[in-house]
Amino acid sequence: MKSDAPLDFDAETMRQMGYRVVDLLVDYWQHLPVRPLGQRADRIALEKLLNEPTPQQPQHFETVLDEFLQKVLPNIIKVDHPRYFAFVPAPNDYVGVLADFISAGMNVFVGTWMVGAGATQVEQVVIRWLCNWFGLPESAGGLFVSGGSVANLVCLAAARQQYPDALTHGRVYYSDQTHSCVARAWRVLGLREEQLCVLPADDNFQIPLDALAEQIRRDRDTGWLPFCVVANAGTTNTGAVDPLNALAELCEAEGLWLHADGAYGAAAILTEEGKQRLQGIHRLHSLAIDPHKWLYQPMMAGCAIVREFEHLRTAFRILPPYLQDKERGAVGVDLCDYGVELSRNFRALKVWMSLKTHGVEAFRQSMEWNLHLARVAEQAIRQLPHWKIVSPATMGIVAFRYEPSDRSAEQADALNRALVDAMLEDGFALVSSTVLRGRVALRMCTLNPRATEADVFETVRRLNQFAQRL
Ligand SMILES: Cc1ncc(COP(=O)(O)O)c(C=O)c1O
Repeated sequence: MKSDAPLDFDAETMRQMGYRVVDLLVDYWQHLPVRPLGQRADRIALEKLLNEPTPQQPQHFETVLDEFLQKVLPNIIKVDHPRYFAFVPAPNDYVGVLADFISAGMNVFVGTWMVGAGATQVEQVVIRWLCNWFGLPESAGGLFVSGGSVANLVCLAAARQQYPDALTHGRVYYSDQTHSCVARAWRVLGLREEQLCVLPADDNFQIPLDALAEQIRRDRDTGWLPFCVVANAGTTNTGAVDPLNALAELCEAEGLWLHADGAYGAAAILTEEGKQRLQGIHRLHSLAIDPHKWLYQPMMAGCAIVREFEHLRTAFRILPPYLQDKERGAVGVDLCDYGVELSRNFRALKVWMSLKTHGVEAFRQSMEWNLHLARVAEQAIRQLPHWKIVSPATMGIVAFRYEPSDRSAEQADALNRALVDAMLEDGFALVSSTVLRGRVALRMCTLNPRATEADVFETVRRLNQFAQRL
């Protein structure tokens, strides 16, 4: 029943609506493993199904919810499905989901200390936990942003700001395995294409150190100002981590800012494999890390972390008159001064509540399981004739390729691409493809803690079965 205020419901109706949604979600999660992954929908069909003019007449919430369930949900590929091994899976934690509900429900504003002090402090606490995981000093700090793309952008803005001549003749360095959001960030920050030096990765998909050092030297000789290296702390393609210690040596010697994109991989610092691979991470000037990836949080949770928190303020702070009230009285950190957003929701709440509810050990164990599953996948693939491991299990990603002896490399490329389509058609599981060393490869990213060994075996079995038929 609607109350007098046209947008409001009475308390009982609100409760019923909320309970219905919780029941729906719990049911959804319980049945997810036996449901298909969802389909790649046809655009014309979806336009027909969903396009309509702005609704004029009210409908029951239940009716609208049913419409979502009938028309929208089947046309979404479930990135939280335990057999979604494509791209970067996004399994989310129930506590995080509830925290997002609270954050939206109270519409907590975390832009200024004046309005959002408690939430700001929680955000700072979570960032400090992360900084401690990485061994970053007390001066380090950061903030939550929407995800890895913005986290990299925010960190790189701080880097650019520290080098006054960066825009005119600065040059930055990273490998060809680096996520495209880094190139986009530099574009947004005003660097020209020729200022981006992209080095072909070595056989281990890492940035080649000697070539990098040589390039920096040559660039100085020809009038460039080398000012930043972007390292990978877990590439999307293969999970490769660049040699952070060696890069830190080089950047210290050359006076360069060392940033790492750890959007995907940095959280693996909690695991044994991650600790080994991420050695030197404590020496970075800045780091992007996404709790919405490997800390299992609902989407829209990336973090930009810098070694000197003040560098973000230098890069971003502007004080307009309509915000002057925040400068008086009890002042603390105004997070709007440290990034690109003024209106900021309470993204840190999900990580805070999730880590407190489960304890960090539960996360560590889940991540170790993810790493184990990638090794299981690698072993299973190695058993099969005509399949080749292109990159062994690294940080939860294994890359491989079907390469029958009677097909050319180009034909094998087409075959491997077709295998993704066959998986999509089948709906049981999904892997994605990429290009490694110039050839198409498949990759499985085993990041879902609810995935089982049986899920991995059956996915590999089906891939092989489809390969025989193509
Ligand atoms: C290594 C890496 N960096 C950056 C990103 C971009 O992150 P987002 O999609 O959260 O913007 C991704 C996304 O998968 C990634 O894997």
